[in-house]
Amino acid sequence: IPVEDFDLVIFGATGDLARRKILPGLYRRFLAGQMPPEARVIGAARSDLTDQRFRDDVRAAIDEFDAKADRSQLDAFLDQLHYVAIDAKGTGGWDSLRDMMRPGVVRAFYFSVAPSLFGDLAQRLSEYDIADQNSRIVVEKPFGRDLESARALNATLAEHFDEGQIYRIDHYLGKETVQNLMAVRFANILFEPLWNAQHVDHVQITVAETVGVGGRGGYYDQSGAMRDMVQNHLMQLLCLTAMEPPYHFDPNAVRDEKLKVIRALEPVAEDEIVRGQYQADGDQPGYVEDSENPESRTESYVALKVRISNWRWQGTPFYLRTGKKMRARTSEIVITFKEPPHSIFDDSGTQRANQLVIKLQPDEGMDLTVMIKEPGPGGMRLMQVPLDMSFADTFGPAGVDMPDAYERLIMDVIRGNQTLFMRGDEVEAAWAWADPIIAAWDGSKARPEPYDAGSSGPEEALRLMHRDNRRWREIR
Ligand code: BG6
Repeated sequence: IPVEDFDLVIFGATGDLARRKILPGLYRRFLAGQMPPEARVIGAARSDLTDQRFRDDVRAAIDEFDAKADRSQLDAFLDQLHYVAIDAKGTGGWDSLRDMMRPGVVRAFYFSVAPSLFGDLAQRLSEYDIADQNSRIVVEKPFGRDLESARALNATLAEHFDEGQIYRIDHYLGKETVQNLMAVRFANILFEPLWNAQHVDHVQITVAETVGVGGRGGYYDQSGAMRDMVQNHLMQLLCLTAMEPPYHFDPNAVRDEKLKVIRALEPVAEDEIVRGQYQADGDQPGYVEDSENPESRTESYVALKVRISNWRWQGTPFYLRTGKKMRARTSEIVITFKEPPHSIFDDSGTQRANQLVIKLQPDEGMDLTVMIKEPGPGGMRLMQVPLDMSFADTFGPAGVDMPDAYERLIMDVIRGNQTLFMRGDEVEAAWAWADPIIAAWDGSKARPEPYDAGSSGPEEALRLMHRDNRRWREIR
């Protein structure tokens, strides 16, 4: 179903995110028939390009980053692209941009630029009368680097736009399974009655990546895993797993519930958090080589134990971990239920806890382990089997067109649906929780725990679980 007609301006249109995700994503939506034939995408950046040169660049970007996309409609898509050279901090290009905008269609402005330019862009959009009441702006992470800077950013944007016009992207919210988590929780009777401290032993949230930080050391080295992943992506996964049912699937109802979770987080004790930094292993370079900073104490890995101080979760810890250069690329949420209170079977030593594994990537799906009788005449011997719902098996690899997170989120912007975007108060609350952890590190001389590139992370992170008589699910 096509969305309504729009003019989408991408600031930073020649940058990495635009070439890698935004523009190939738009082409995919075009192929899916969702982009109306009149809609226009206007690239805006510093370089002086003609429309034709910009289109050639986008063609090259799609070749490079979406090699599998059907090329048959690429020319038609490129015809809907335009370009304007813009000086974000000056006057150049703004009159031309205003002249390009059409009346009566949705106007969206994607700020795919350094956060230091957000204020300038917002100001010029209103000064030059380019943005109207119905316009939306999309801002990328990092949204600040601490509570103070996030507040300042929110205040700057609020001078020109209402909260209802600001779409703060966390692309994890656009992932298929992340939304499915809400469907599983709130559209079934099976899980919700058990979804609390009485029945859940603990929750693990893992986002393991195989990539290192090579090529983006400058940004990453100033940021680290806590700011780059935990404060936003892992926090969002935690919120959706832990929140109360919203009264309706509606942007503010969902975001109110997420905010309550963040506000209920207890401060993290120093000995319940592990920072790691990957070390060279064989031909794999270490973090300090990748970041070109031999003295760096920046963490490329974090594991921590989080407690949520509310009725539902009192006593059930959430263990979070994320790292670069890990053994495999795996993102999953694992709900480990408590064991049945009493066993009528002679099954001591058998692992009896049911586990629900929600897999975000690489293979999306869900897995629920249940106990059954081992088949055959061997008597009443129990075993665990998975009730497996892999999306690829259920819907067939070609049977479902699974949009990438960015594609979905951009279409939500055009539709005016903020459910999967972060509200200003949510981002601030997440920083308020993360800031003391980061400040404690900054104030200590301790170095991050080393782990080998291509491993499962530092030994210390295993101990974080072992001392609670639990263990991480293997990364594979
Ligand atoms: C980004 C981080 O927000 O998310 C990157 O800045 C990280 O460091 C990326 O690699 C992970 O996204 P995905 O979708 O590949 O899991």
